[in-house]
Amino acid sequence: MKTRAAVAYAVNQPWTIEEFEIADPGPEEVLVKMSFAGLCHSDEHIRLGDFTEAVLPMVCGHEGSGVIEAVGDRVRGLEVGDHVAASFIPSCGRCPSCADGMQYLCDNGAEIMAGEDRFMGPNGPAKAMSGIGTFSEYAVVHENSLVKVGDWYPLEAVALCSCGVATGWGTAVNVAGVSAGDTVVVIGTGGIGINAVQGAAMAGAANIIAVDPVEMKREFAQSMGATHAAASIAEAGPLVEELSWGRGANQVILTVGDATSDLFAPAMGLVGKAGSLTLTSLSNMLQNEISLNTVDLAMSGKHLHGSIYGYCNPRSDIPKLLRLYDQGKLKLDELITRRYSLDEINEGYRAMHAGENIRAVIDFSL
Ligand SMILES: NC(=O)c1ccc[n+]([C@@H]2O[C@H](COP(=O)([O-])OP(=O)(O)OC[C@H]3O[C@@H](n4cnc5c(N)ncnc54)[C@H](O)[C@@H]3O)[C@@H](O)[C@H]2O)c1
Ligand SMILES: [Zn+2]
Ligand SMILES: [Zn+2]
Repeated sequence: MKTRAAVAYAVNQPWTIEEFEIADPGPEEVLVKMSFAGLCHSDEHIRLGDFTEAVLPMVCGHEGSGVIEAVGDRVRGLEVGDHVAASFIPSCGRCPSCADGMQYLCDNGAEIMAGEDRFMGPNGPAKAMSGIGTFSEYAVVHENSLVKVGDWYPLEAVALCSCGVATGWGTAVNVAGVSAGDTVVVIGTGGIGINAVQGAAMAGAANIIAVDPVEMKREFAQSMGATHAAASIAEAGPLVEELSWGRGANQVILTVGDATSDLFAPAMGLVGKAGSLTLTSLSNMLQNEISLNTVDLAMSGKHLHGSIYGYCNPRSDIPKLLRLYDQGKLKLDELITRRYSLDEINEGYRAMHAGENIRAVIDFSL
C-alpha cells in the first residue's frame, strides 16, 4: 500500500515528504496507522550525520503511537484495533538481555542504528529508523517493537511515553537511582530532561536544579517539579554548593541535545562524594574522548553511568507510566508545546533547535 513519510535523503538536507510503497505485514509483523509521532532530538542526530552507522535514505521517527490495521499469521500478542506505542528497542523476551530483565538492551536491538529496508520510494528503497519509522502515515513493524496500551489513554500521551518520557523518567528513577532527600541536577530540560525532572520529583528528591540556557525551559521545569534553575553549569555550581551544604549533588543527569566532550568535566564537578553523573544525551558516534579527573573519580568514589531508554522495560514501564498519568501523578499533556502536520516537520525541528518547544508532535489528523 501507499503511505506518505518524511525521509532524510542525505546528511544535512531537510526532511523530504515523499510517497512510499510498503509491503503487507510478514508473519510476525503488523500494519500500524500512525496517530502521533514525537519530534525527538535523536532523529535529528541521524539527519545531521552524527550516527555514522545510520544508512540514508531513512524514514525516521521512533517515538509514536497508532492503531493496528492488519496482523501477520504468527502474531499472537496484538489484534486489529489495538492501540500501540512504538518502542525503539525491540523486546523479544528471549535473548540473554531480555531474560535477565533488561529489555532495554534486547540483543535484537543491535542493528537499530542501521535501520531496516521497509519503504520503497521514487528514488529507491529507504530504511525505517529502528525498524519503525513513525514519521509515516502507515508503517509495517515487527510485533516486538510495539507495546499494547489501554485504549482509554489519549494516543498523544501514549506517543510521548514511547521514548521521551520513558527515557527521561527512567534515567532519574532507574539509572541514577534518585532517592528521598537527594540533590539532583538535570542539565538540559528539553523533551527528555523535563521527564528526568518529573522522575526525580516522584522519587522524592529534596532539591532539583534545572540547568538550561533557555529561560522558557527553566520556567517550565519549575512548574514540573524543579525547585531551582540555572542558565549554565557554571551558574549551577554555587547553587548546588549551598543547597547540598557543601557536599555536592547526589546525581547529575546530562540530557542536553548534543553531549559534546567539553561538558563532562564541569558536570562531574557538580557531583559530590559517592554521587553519579548519568549520560543520556547522544552525540557524534565518532566522539571517543571526554576529559575527567581520574583521581577525583576514584578517590571521591564517583560513578559514571550510561543510560539507554532510562533502563525502562517497554512492556512493563510504558503501561506503568500511563497509569501514573491516569492518576494525575505524571504530567504528559503539559509537555506538548505544539502540534504539526507531517508536511510541517522541518518547521517543528527548527523550533526544537531554537529552544521554542518542550516537545512537539506530528498529528497525522492535521
Ligand atoms: N539514551 C537514550 O536512550 C536516548 C533516548 C532519547 C533521546 N536521547 C538523546 O537525549 C538528548 C536530548 O534529547 P531531547 O529530545 O530532549 O532534545 P531537546 O533538544 O528537546 O532538549 C535538549 C535541551 O538541552 C538544552 N541545552 C543545550 N545545550 C545545553 C547546555 N550546554 N547546558 C544546558 N542545557 C543545554 C537545550 O536548550 C534543550 O532544552 C539527545 O541527544 C537525544 O538524542 C537519548
Ligand atoms: Zn527518542
Ligand atoms: Zn531480547
